[in-house]
Parts: sequence; structure tokens; C-alpha cells
Amino acid sequence: MDNRPIGVFDSGLGGLTAVKELRRILPRENIVYFGDTGRVPYGNRGRDTILAFAAQDMAFLKQHDVKMLVAACGTISSVMTEQLAGRMGIPFTGVVLPTAQAACAASTTGVVGVIGTSATIRSGSFAKAIHNIRGDVKVLGKSCPLFVSLVENGYIASDNPVVQLVTRDYLRTFDGEADMDTLILGCTHFPLIYDSIAEYFHYNVTLIDSGRATAQYVQSFLTERNMLCEQDAEGTADYYVSDNTDDFSAVAERFLGGPLGNRVHHINVEELSALAQERE
Ligand code: DGL
Repeated sequence: MDNRPIGVFDSGLGGLTAVKELRRILPRENIVYFGDTGRVPYGNRGRDTILAFAAQDMAFLKQHDVKMLVAACGTISSVMTEQLAGRMGIPFTGVVLPTAQAACAASTTGVVGVIGTSATIRSGSFAKAIHNIRGDVKVLGKSCPLFVSLVENGYIASDNPVVQLVTRDYLRTFDGEADMDTLILGCTHFPLIYDSIAEYFHYNVTLIDSGRATAQYVQSFLTERNMLCEQDAEGTADYYVSDNTDDFSAVAERFLGGPLGNRVHHINVEELSALAQERE
């Protein structure tokens, strides 16, 4: 038993896809979430910047005495090394491995698409993880960075013409790939526009939600190590963001399906940098 909270982080709202699933499958767990909304997007930045931001995000969550760190962000997970994550001294997972496992299990044709940020697609992280599990899979990648801005700005409805236009423009790259039966939503922001993506493929392609796959991985990880929270009450979730709390709450409440009340807090980016420096 370990009643300390799970720490989940992302550049913004995307990691809520993991939080939503964690709250559904592990309702007794306490969660501390950090969304770096003041510096989103991470996905069009260079590797060193992404790693520096991730180190600050993790240092912040470490202050909350978390029992596990979950990088609910395809971008961070694609550039983070085991060594760097290990330096925190806290069990860690990103989204790449759990999502690759789910995609390999789902695909019967052996043709899998991956959409993510530019940094994620450039890294080839999902293709590498898939090939470690199933060498026969053909992996097709496409970076879709504008999806992140759409989500951060609350453009998530499938009947929104801007969402439809951007979706069509990005996804037509897969038009000639009739054998592709599985598509990895390799950026955790993308499940917030799940319906638009599913509609584009006429619901004929299995979409793998990286946040959800990762939450399921966390459940197995904590269960196997006897680290689940055993409190009687329902778990709490606290959300920390580095920009305006109202903007975050508005989209988060729509996505999570309920009010977040006074559980959304603001944190200064300068404080984050200072924290990471203290650790060096
Ligand atoms: N949610 C993120 C990801 O999974 C990051 C998007 C971004 O900051 O560009 O890649």
C-alpha cells in the first residue's frame, strides 16, 4: 500500500486524457497534475529545451511527494532517457511503451499510423517501440502540431469547421493506406478531438489513446508492486498550471465532465526554474 499521490504532467491540457482514465479505473488514487500552460507547446521545440522543461516539471511534482511520475505527454516521452527520468529517484513512465503495446495488440493488418507533435514524429520513438515488440509492423508517421493549439484554445467540438478543416488537411496523408487499421494518437492532446479524427476514417480505424493506454499501464505497475492507495474515500485531484487557471478550467471541465472547483492552482514558471536549479 502507498497512499501518496500519483504525479501526472504535460505541457498543457493533454495529460488530462491520462487523468480521466486514472480516475475511472483507480478512483481511490490521489492525483497531482501539472500542465505547463504558460509554455505550451513543447512539441515544436528542440530536444534540450524539452528536457529542461521536463526536469522542472518533475522537480515540481517531486515536492508533492508523489509515488510515481507519469509523463502524460508524447513529446516528453519521446525525448526522455531512462537515465534522466531515473535521476528523480521515483518510478517513472512515459506514454510511448504503453501505447506501442496497445497498438501492436490492436492491429491485425500490421499497418499502424502515428500522429504526434513534430518532436515526437522526428524522434521515431513510437516506430522504435513498436518494432521492439513486433518487427513486422509498417509504421506511418505524420506530425500534426496545430491540433495542440486547437485543443489549448478550446476548439474541440467535432462540428467545429476549423477543427474539421485542419483534421482533413493533416489526415489525408493516410488516404492511400487502405491497410492501416490502427492509428496512434501519439500526442495526449489529440484524444480531446477524438470524434473528428474517428469521423475522418469513417470509424474504420482503431484509435489508440496514448493517455488512456498509459493510465492502464500505471494501474498494472502499481498493482504488481503493491503500491495502490488503500484509503476508503474517493481520491482527490489537484491541478497546477503555469498560466491562467480560468482558461484551463473551462476546457478541462468540458473534457472531464465536471467542475474542478477550487482544485486548480497557479504556479509561476520562475519558481519552476528555481526548483530544478536547486536540484542540480
Ligand atoms: N501533449 C503533448 C504531447 O503529448 C504536448 C503537445 C505540445 O506541447 O506540443 O506531445
